[in-house]
Amino acid sequence: MTIDLGKRGRVLGQPKTRVEGPLKVSGTAGYAADRHQVSGPQLIGYPVMAQIAKGRIRSMGIEAAKAAPGVRAIVTTLDMQPLPISKHNVARLFGGADIHHFQQAIAIVVADSFEQARSAAALIDVDYRVDRKADFDLEAAHEKIASAKPRPMSKAARFAKAFEAAEVQLDQTYRTPDQSHMMMEPFASIAEWRDGKLHLWTSNQMINWMRGGVAKTLGLKPDEVVIDSPYIGGGFGGKLFPRADAILAALGAKAAGRPVRLAMPRPVLMNNTTHRSATIQRLRIGTDRDGRITALGHEATTGTLPGGPGENAVDQTPRFYAAKKVFTQHNKAELDLPESNAMRAPGEAAGLMALEIAMDEMAEKLGLDPVEFRAINDATHDAALPIKRRFSDRNFVECLRRGAEVFGWEQRNRTPGALREGRHLIGHGMAGAYRGAPIFPSAARVRLQPDGRLIVETDMTDIGTGSYTILGQTAAEMLGLELEQVDVRLGNSDFPVSFGSGGQAGAASSTAGVYVACVALREEIARRLGNVPPDELVFDAGTVASKGRTVPLADLAAEGEIVAEQKAGWNLRQIPTQLATFAAHFAEVSVDVATGEVRVRRMLAVCDAGRIMNPITARSQVIGGMVMGVGAALTEAAEVDTDKGFFANHDLASYEVPVHADIPDQEVIFLDTEDAAAGPLRAKGVGELGLCGVAAAIANAVYNATGVRVRDYPLTLDKLIDQLPPV
Ligand code: MOS
Repeated sequence: MTIDLGKRGRVLGQPKTRVEGPLKVSGTAGYAADRHQVSGPQLIGYPVMAQIAKGRIRSMGIEAAKAAPGVRAIVTTLDMQPLPISKHNVARLFGGADIHHFQQAIAIVVADSFEQARSAAALIDVDYRVDRKADFDLEAAHEKIASAKPRPMSKAARFAKAFEAAEVQLDQTYRTPDQSHMMMEPFASIAEWRDGKLHLWTSNQMINWMRGGVAKTLGLKPDEVVIDSPYIGGGFGGKLFPRADAILAALGAKAAGRPVRLAMPRPVLMNNTTHRSATIQRLRIGTDRDGRITALGHEATTGTLPGGPGENAVDQTPRFYAAKKVFTQHNKAELDLPESNAMRAPGEAAGLMALEIAMDEMAEKLGLDPVEFRAINDATHDAALPIKRRFSDRNFVECLRRGAEVFGWEQRNRTPGALREGRHLIGHGMAGAYRGAPIFPSAARVRLQPDGRLIVETDMTDIGTGSYTILGQTAAEMLGLELEQVDVRLGNSDFPVSFGSGGQAGAASSTAGVYVACVALREEIARRLGNVPPDELVFDAGTVASKGRTVPLADLAAEGEIVAEQKAGWNLRQIPTQLATFAAHFAEVSVDVATGEVRVRRMLAVCDAGRIMNPITARSQVIGGMVMGVGAALTEAAEVDTDKGFFANHDLASYEVPVHADIPDQEVIFLDTEDAAAGPLRAKGVGELGLCGVAAAIANAVYNATGVRVRDYPLTLDKLIDQLPPV
């Protein structure tokens, strides 16, 4: 049975504020480290981190720490064999003497109080043998890769020929820095061993990956691990799979025989956990005189520990623009920096930072409007796959046109550096955005209660995105209830397995799971009403009507709750078309000619992301992404100490993310689209789309304002100030 949820539902699609909002603003939502009541009395864990990037621990002196007041247990990395690495992790989280990156966890001290644990940890004396061959230099690695001549008849050589034959050519190199998630809530876990199971109250985006990852790392069976993570203070890809906080807390709790609580101190987050690795990207665009792309080449070099994915900046390019000849190459350089892994729209976020400046530069070369240049090169097929796939629904050109109209793009100044208001140069820029929109299998359980309320359970998480709200809306719509009559329970490994929050697949996947569970519940209700055909039932205002008879749902469940559980099998691999989301971003900036300071004055995003399930939470996702884009454009960079091999600016005082005062009014427009390939709700992810392309729109606006083309992010004032006109 399928139920058509219409375009704009009674509850679904309506602008509902977050159902858990009151808990968050009143400080009563339980974030991991605040959950003092979930277990027995907790001891406090404090981590010890390696102070070298690569090498080996010769010895660890722990006697003084052991004798320090309040200390209950110490577990060091030398106490055990190296712990296995789970499927999604790259660096080893704990165990063994070998150090693979700076601030790899090497011990946990467990004590009665935080102060006791911290001061005892400082007494641990570690003797290292430093590996002098460690390599932290992306520029050098890139130079080596870039200077290698392509073999004759190779893809690279054939592309070079096509590019050289193009009538108009652009060949430029762009740089994006290492970036850090810098979520508000640090990595934190409470661990308790109870009834033969490890219970972890933690902060995690993907409960099933977390459960499997913890089990693998600690040599347990998955069902011996219970994960609970109902609220997450930001993850951005950093909390997709286990980190050292969970493993250390588990080991500490085992050693102490008591529950242990551990929150990673802010200064160690950047080096102990994952980051987005820096990229050096070469873009070659060849066109004919009319601006049609004939050759499109995108190569990028990024650093990673051995076996890691690195930041794949090139993947979207052949999916975004049509070209006769396409060439992409993702070069992974093995560096000994901390683990490079998923962060905020991995791939596209960094790739579009370069591609969308290159498109701006090429439009200028051609004397074309950058909006038009993109529109005439819009792709209909995904050319990155061996078999070309059509997009199920693609309205990129409409995003461009709507955006240009609403932003007033026609009225802009077209001569770079020619619009000045007193001390400020004013500029306008735009960029396109592409982000994949996968949908993955996802399950849910719904429980109709004797009082007529509905409980929804799935291990989906809400990382601040609005999952509680849209899942409640989906269930309310399906069963004729108000949102207030639905209790959504998330983030627990005892609930049916969803995809989780990652890769902007969460919303489409988890609502599909709730949808099929509700279909199953409707079928069960039909059986209880005397085997009436399920699709003849009408659910409305807490009742169900069939053949002229109207029954309150509460009456049906009066004898006991009615439970249905189901898994939605929608799977990207089975969909014959390509699913993606598209956007156009526009920005207005001012640049102070005296200081070189850039301020963003106006931002607009026009998004094509299928059905919008809740305009408030969807808009919040997009404006949050746009804020991240401002950070990427103007401030965010993790600075590598290339001598010692660590990120030096490892706190929020020196790794600058935008604050409220940096953000102007932001406008977000959603095209009124539906994507029939995107599961039963015809909706796609939107969160990561909000970030993709934003930084390039700002960089292009800075060029329009100043005439200075910066190809090296972030656009800090030192890169502009020498080239600005006199005050
Ligand atoms: Mo996302 S970087 O998959 O949380």
